[in-house]
Amino acid sequence: MTPPRSAFGAPPQGGAPSGPAEPDPRLPLGKSPSIPLLDVKDFSLEFRTRSGTVRALEGVNLSLRKGEIVGLVGESGSGKSVLSYALLGISDRAAKVTGGTAVFGGLDLLQADEPTLAGLRGREISMIFQSPRTALNPIRQVGLQIEDVLRRHAAASGPDLQTSLRQRAVQALRDVAIADPERRIAAYPFEMSGGMCQRVMIALALACKPSLLIADEPTTGLDVTTQAAVMDLITGLARERQMATLFITHDLALAADYCDRIVVMHAGHAVESAPTASLFASPRHPYTARLMSSTPGARSTIASLQPVPGQLPDLRREDLPACRFAERCERASPRCRSERPVLDTSQPHAVACWHPMHEAAPAAEAEHHV
Ligand SMILES: Nc1ncnc2c1ncn2[C@@H]1O[C@H](COP(=O)(O)OP(=O)(O)OP(=O)(O)O)[C@@H](O)[C@H]1O
Ligand code: SF4
Ligand SMILES: [Mg+2]
Repeated sequence: MTPPRSAFGAPPQGGAPSGPAEPDPRLPLGKSPSIPLLDVKDFSLEFRTRSGTVRALEGVNLSLRKGEIVGLVGESGSGKSVLSYALLGISDRAAKVTGGTAVFGGLDLLQADEPTLAGLRGREISMIFQSPRTALNPIRQVGLQIEDVLRRHAAASGPDLQTSLRQRAVQALRDVAIADPERRIAAYPFEMSGGMCQRVMIALALACKPSLLIADEPTTGLDVTTQAAVMDLITGLARERQMATLFITHDLALAADYCDRIVVMHAGHAVESAPTASLFASPRHPYTARLMSSTPGARSTIASLQPVPGQLPDLRREDLPACRFAERCERASPRCRSERPVLDTSQPHAVACWHPMHEAAPAAEAEHHV
């Protein structure tokens, strides 16, 4: 899904720089480590389309604390991007929030008006998109694109604003390890490699030192070495700045290498959330277990890799089972089809499943609940 507009407060592709800065209601973020920086509860969203209503997210629970790096993983179409665009208020026009809250620093992002969200985007919450070449303005020098963001959020000020903006933009490029930033600042995206463009995207996203970064498949299309360098860069800056980071990927192994915690999504449901080590030591949701056995690791062989059975259900269906994994799950019982299990994010290792792995046989449960 292509993002409909820029999440950085920067002008959309080919557009002119934006107008004056929005008012600056900086939020008292991350004051208490016990309060999540972002707390998404029971979030549901659907798309009203000509071919039917796509129930893209249902009852999603997710939280992030200051400085935490959380991986959001799941197959293509599981709702990872839809969730992140909705948090930034950049959803497609066909999207309709049908329930829930997403509280960020005391503000419900799902209820906030556009001027408030525009004031947060790029300053408190930033996003790195999958494809830097389409997210960057191809006809504007990269330095000017960074200056646009800084100007919009008044992150640079003083009597000589232009000099200050330029210095900040050079520093932003230096922060992402771009060599010779004084010269590179005048480059256009087409003059840069894919890895370099992704570094510029990171510089743009982090220029105003946001409290929350959403990185949507930030390394897709990059070779393995550049992928590792980009991931090292993002997570290194996140640790240094205590920035909460939601790292979206379909690559469980990559998430395992870099994330403190992993949230697994399936067909618009968040189904498991656990510290990375705990998730890998003991996956509790049958889908997570299947995802793991389909993910290549250092010791896997072709024979040991097992694809997840079946496909994601069509989210336009009226007769979706309550647990949307039920038609792919060996442990399914009648209860799974009629009653949606909820993810309790107050638990360190939470699972939304009536018959989690390592627990009672589902057949007994099934009889009990029929
Ligand atoms: N504008 C739209 N109109 C209708 N359905 C949409 C729209 N955008 C997304 N969807 C549907 O919402 C669901 C979730 O899509 P989403 O793009 O969030 O998946 P994803 O997990 O990010 O997948 P990927 O790994 O391929 O990026 C899919 O079924 C998708 O077809
Ligand atoms: S709730 Fe039931 S169908 Fe869903 S994953 Fe758990 S056991 Fe399988
Ligand atoms: Mg996506």
